[in-house]
Amino acid sequence: MNQVILITGGSGFIGSALVRFLIHHTAHTVINLDKLTYASNPASLGDVRLSHRYHFIEGDICDAGLVSNLLHEYRPTSIMHLAAESHVDRSIDGSAEFMQTNIIGTYTLLEACRKYYTTLVDRKRDGFRFHHISTDEVYGDLDFGELFTENTRYDPSSPYSASKAASDHLVRAWHRTYGLPIVVTNCSNNYGPFQHAEKLIPQTITNALAGKSIPIYGNGLQIRDWLYVEDHVRALYSVLTQGKIGKTYNIGGSCEKRNIDVVNTICELLEELVPVNVDSLAASGNALGFKSLITYVDDRPGHDVRYAIDSSKIQRELGWKPIESFESGLKKTVEWYVKEAVEWYVKEAVKAKAYEKADKSEDGAS
Ligand SMILES: NC(=O)c1ccc[n+]([C@@H]2O[C@H](COP(=O)([O-])OP(=O)(O)OC[C@H]3O[C@@H](n4cnc5c(N)ncnc54)[C@H](O)[C@@H]3O)[C@@H](O)[C@H]2O)c1
Repeated sequence: MNQVILITGGSGFIGSALVRFLIHHTAHTVINLDKLTYASNPASLGDVRLSHRYHFIEGDICDAGLVSNLLHEYRPTSIMHLAAESHVDRSIDGSAEFMQTNIIGTYTLLEACRKYYTTLVDRKRDGFRFHHISTDEVYGDLDFGELFTENTRYDPSSPYSASKAASDHLVRAWHRTYGLPIVVTNCSNNYGPFQHAEKLIPQTITNALAGKSIPIYGNGLQIRDWLYVEDHVRALYSVLTQGKIGKTYNIGGSCEKRNIDVVNTICELLEELVPVNVDSLAASGNALGFKSLITYVDDRPGHDVRYAIDSSKIQRELGWKPIESFESGLKKTVEWYVKEAVEWYVKEAVKAKAYEKADKSEDGAS
């Protein structure tokens, strides 16, 4: 059945990849509700904006009237909720927006969907899903040798992860109390083209290309489990279409890397792709090339040391697995930033809105 899918946050990093996937690889109609915060970039949607199956509404998920009108006008068959404030550093500096969007926004959507769901009948009612997209950061710090499973106790460390944890609990409560048909996914760190320059991988690439310092928090030994964004999007679609109501699915790349190793690998890839910059660094006496730009900065408060996901449930039950290896995904990503990102940033002035605290990076990408 062709669906009408309401996506919140479809102009952000993962949301735009999801919208591109749905328009290019399915016959579904997509309604994108996005507030267009600093983190968004409509250029990420490219030609899908021209599709008659794509509709954009600029607005806030906290606006109950708007959300209710949207549901009744477009009559979506499902909702995939990605809109969030997603940058851990920003949540430490100012948490209000995180509480508002991530908690109140999710509550507002749940309430509107609960009422809308009562108006659905037959196949539309049976097929309706509220898919909440969340993060592995809700589980907190992980000891070596362990993996996050769907049963791991919540123990969030930052205002960002605490707000996402709260939203996860709300979504599950709306299922248990009101019978709203929900599915929840908790995913590890995503990377790929079109990610905002404040996150670790794009920041490393863009700073290196600009000859600016590449900041590394603390000792750089923090471990994240990296997943290529298009693999995440395929996983989300599997959960939306095949996931069991009320269930949670962990999504990860089984790809643990230390931050310093990620940054070193990017520097090596850049040295192959843009030797001219290496030459100019060497001319200024930097024999180490891009790696000479690496600068260790004070660690972030509450910085979790390790995240790693056990994604065997989604692999076993829904047949999903990542296609991209870290090596192939990172190469594609670095090549994309080298070739495309300047135009992408300039077009929508993302760079101009970049986080003022220039010498900070975000490895807990959310
Ligand atoms: N990036 C990751 O590594 C990662 C990993 C796991 C889970 N997640 C989750 O996936 C989702 C998407 O992450 P992302 O990296 O694409 O985030 P992002 O910051 O790139 O994009 C967020 C989008 O939400 C929109 N938005 C923010 N507040 C809004 C509001 N009040 N109303 C409507 N729209 C609003 C923004 O304009 C932006 O387009 C988030 O819920 C995040 O918690 C992200």
